[in-house]
Amino acid sequence: MNTPLLCVHGFPFDHTMWLPLAEELRGEFRMILPDLRGMGRSPCGPEDTATMRSLADDLAKLLDSLGVEKCVFCGLSMGGYVGWEFCEHHADRLVGIILCDSNAGCDTPEAAETRRKTAERVQAEGPGFLADGMIERILAPETVANRAEVVAHYRRMVTENNPRGVAAVARGMAERRDFREIVKTLALPVLILSGEHDVLSPPAAMEALAKTMPNAVYAPITGAGHLAPLENPVQTAKEIRTFWK
Ligand code: MLT
Repeated sequence: MNTPLLCVHGFPFDHTMWLPLAEELRGEFRMILPDLRGMGRSPCGPEDTATMRSLADDLAKLLDSLGVEKCVFCGLSMGGYVGWEFCEHHADRLVGIILCDSNAGCDTPEAAETRRKTAERVQAEGPGFLADGMIERILAPETVANRAEVVAHYRRMVTENNPRGVAAVARGMAERRDFREIVKTLALPVLILSGEHDVLSPPAAMEALAKTMPNAVYAPITGAGHLAPLENPVQTAKEIRTFWK
């Protein structure tokens, strides 16, 4: 039986960001690719703020409904923030963690305020403005210049997302907790990956995070920015394979 790999997308994306990786790992893992509450094809909840804890609890219920007892949790950026809550509240469901292009900290008060303003604007105008505003920070320069299909995929995920759902998770990220001390005690095997050109989760910071954890290894992903699994699924799959063996 293949190990379940629960892949949790970032902000403001959806499960399709994992499809090229799922293709690479076909037959090796049981790939579980949810859309978080209010994003992709998943409906919004009633609340204005989707906390990282509520998203982690949704995922535990999803595993229940699939009859999956334990999994490797693989989260990208916001997916990683959800992962820390999953570790804290559903530790018995985990056999390993893969953290892509993320961090274990929380927002400064200023960053949290900016996020809340972004949430208001997304609700008023839709998420389209984010696609242009973020592209240079999300994709590597060579991806933007030479890989039209990846750029189109990125734009599609951002612009087609539900404004209410995007706003709710933005507010949820603004109030997320700081896990930097807690992860120092995490005994599970951890793989930390980041695109070599990721400016939001720079390789040096990801490598430093790995060094604070008792059982973590770090690998940079060549030619990628913040969406390493989408920009370089071949190397991402290779690192995951090596880690899990
Ligand atoms: C993401 O990709 O999920 C975002 O960069 C997370 C964030 O805005 O902190």
